[in-house]
Amino acid sequence: MTNEMTYGSYLKIPELLELQHCLSVDEATGEPEHDETLFIVIHQVYELWFKQVLHELDYIVELMNDDRVGAARHHLRRVLTIVKTMVGQIDILETMTPAEFASFRSFLANASGFQSAQFRELEFMLGVKDRVQIDWFAGAEAERLEARHAAPTLWDAFVRLLSRSGSDIPNSILDRDVSQPIIENAAVQQAIIGQYSDERFAGLCEMMTDLDEGIQEWRYRHVMMVRRTIGTKPGTGGSDGASYLATTLFKPAFPDLWAIRTAF
Ligand code: HEM
Repeated sequence: MTNEMTYGSYLKIPELLELQHCLSVDEATGEPEHDETLFIVIHQVYELWFKQVLHELDYIVELMNDDRVGAARHHLRRVLTIVKTMVGQIDILETMTPAEFASFRSFLANASGFQSAQFRELEFMLGVKDRVQIDWFAGAEAERLEARHAAPTLWDAFVRLLSRSGSDIPNSILDRDVSQPIIENAAVQQAIIGQYSDERFAGLCEMMTDLDEGIQEWRYRHVMMVRRTIGTKPGTGGSDGASYLATTLFKPAFPDLWAIRTAF
């Protein structure tokens, strides 16, 4: 039979398996260094998860805008499960010793996680809006980042949902310049606390907190993995390496959801 759909043709498996190009050369064998394949595969897997998470978060914003709270929670649960998987996958990279990484690191030249456009899109989507990060990108990636930077965040969709369901959210928050980072606001915190007795609403807040904590967990696991793999060496992107990454820890995306904790 011709033109029959198969597993490989639908999922583009042959094309997918062609995308891992090692650059290193082991001088003894003339073959690529053994561990470079893992490094490429794991980054590609992360980029696919980033793609799926962005796809889900865009949908969650639409659902929140349509007041479909149950459906928004359902898709947030999916995102949280993916984020847990993303955090767990660091274990795989931690099976790579410093010497194994050093065997091919020089071939990466200046390529760096700083240049992951989707990671920055994810940060922008969550309200971590540092414009300077766009400078790393050009062409279609820069355009996508500009659009994300100018767009309302998941947090904006959330507080607008809150406002429509009767909470007293100040206009300065509802009409805020969405290209700016999210900052703590006492009136928003009071509104959230006021609605916490509504189980459906509290469940949504807890899931948003889980998402924030999950991304922070990823950052922590990434910096520890970097510490054990390259010690205090600088990054390929030109930063101080692990000490730079440590400055990104314990910075919540949704600070109000953390500030309210002491009020109960
Ligand atoms: C051996 C493995 C890895 C090492 C040694 C490593 C090292 C580093 C270092 C040193 C930085 C700081 C920027 C620089 O100067 O280059 C960085 C940033 C980053 N890395 Fe990794 N990384 C590794 C694996 C990964 C993986 C698997 C991902 C998944 C996508 C990833 C994503 C990122 C991202 C998104 C940043 C930017 C973080 C920020 O600015 O907050 N890295 N990495």
